[in-house]
Amino acid sequence: MTTTDIREAVAGSGDRFIYLTAALAALNGLLFGFDTGIISGAFLYINDTFTMSPLVEGIVMSGAMAGAALGAAVGGKLADRLGRRQLILIGAVVFFVGSLTMAIAPTVPILVAGRLIDGVAIGFASIVGPLYISEIAPPKIRGALTSLNQLMVTLGILISYFVNYAFADAGAWRLMLGTGMIPAVVLAVGIVKMPESPRWLYEHGRRDDARAVLERTREGDVDDELAEIEQTVAKQSGTSLRDLLQPWLRPALVVGLGLAVFQQITGINAVIYYAPTILESTGFGSATSILATVGIGVINVLMTVVAIALIDRVGRRLLLLVGIGGMVVTLAVLGVVFYLPGFSGVLGWVATASLMLFVAFFAIGLGPVFWLLISEIYPLSVRGSAMGTVTVANWGANLVVSLAFPLLTANLGKPSTFWLFGVCSLAALAFTYRLVPETKGRSLEAIENDLRENVTDTVATAADESSTISRE
Ligand code: BGC
Repeated sequence: MTTTDIREAVAGSGDRFIYLTAALAALNGLLFGFDTGIISGAFLYINDTFTMSPLVEGIVMSGAMAGAALGAAVGGKLADRLGRRQLILIGAVVFFVGSLTMAIAPTVPILVAGRLIDGVAIGFASIVGPLYISEIAPPKIRGALTSLNQLMVTLGILISYFVNYAFADAGAWRLMLGTGMIPAVVLAVGIVKMPESPRWLYEHGRRDDARAVLERTREGDVDDELAEIEQTVAKQSGTSLRDLLQPWLRPALVVGLGLAVFQQITGINAVIYYAPTILESTGFGSATSILATVGIGVINVLMTVVAIALIDRVGRRLLLLVGIGGMVVTLAVLGVVFYLPGFSGVLGWVATASLMLFVAFFAIGLGPVFWLLISEIYPLSVRGSAMGTVTVANWGANLVVSLAFPLLTANLGKPSTFWLFGVCSLAALAFTYRLVPETKGRSLEAIENDLRENVTDTVATAADESSTISRE
């Protein structure tokens, strides 16, 4: 992009332009959600075409997560080297190729290859979506715009459920998976209207271009913000994995990694990806199961909206504690319901309601709060690499759970599997209560200062340090 291109791209009224840009960038979240959700319905019918053992089922399901871990691992570096726009464009192309490969896959290995390719794009999207939005957003609305990405993730999942429902009668799993090509094209076209991140431009010596983007997207003077960017860029040089292990950063790393893993091992994606399969086992037909799954998707979106409305008022910790507490209870109920003999009728409905409540509790807590906190608790100088590391852990844990879920239910049975998720949720509750800081209403600088001060004041463990960051 030349300076003239940038001036043309940002020609539009400031506020409208920034919302449009953020919405287009949040298509990354939409694709992330759509491509992870669509498999749930497709799975019911892939089995009719290919015969798969539980292990192979797990591999098909988790191929995308393996790809996403890989995509997240290299995505941060690529975004730095090529630019955010470039990576979004590459991601859109990879999304397209992955969806096409899955749609036409003649064999299971090619289907797995398609899931892997698609996964790499999902990994790129999970990093570059929030990264780009937070860099382009004016500071005063950065929180809301960052959460927009998670809202789009849930919306993407919901749309995938509708698409699944629409193709359910025909059992057209190839069309379900192929539909992912459409948002990929929209994203690729939309990127033409999006300017490069001003921060990336500045870092690459294109200061005039950075100023041009800021001037179009901010009201008033941009000198202060440019000066801030300059300081950050100066501090950031030489950021490596070793910098992340500095003692003063450890508490924040523990919190991020802990939440990344707990967000997954408490079972959300066993429900998101396998909901129709679980619901079918409660006695519903395939189409009814997919319809009930649409209900789960709606609840996920609505509760994320509620979380966004509450997050700056009641704080992150309260939402997390209430959300995870609710997950513990609903998982315990699910275990009991599946444990009881003669499972059908009323119990089927109790199971469905419990699944819905479980998702509601996730959506008000661990879903949005995890992604928001990891964009808040790291100092700007190591934010990219810290978020990258934590995101890889999130996808790694996602991979383990989606691979293990069919094996767990086949070997342990459903009741024990849900109880296992319940025990993990209890651990998540204790972890949150003890270690997760409250960041509501605090500036990123204040959070960073707390981290620095804690380590000079005390020789306590990383755990103790973390818990002293302004906990309410
Ligand atoms: C998680 C995903 C999950 C989604 C469900 C996200 O925050 O990272 O793994 O599928 O929420 O809404």
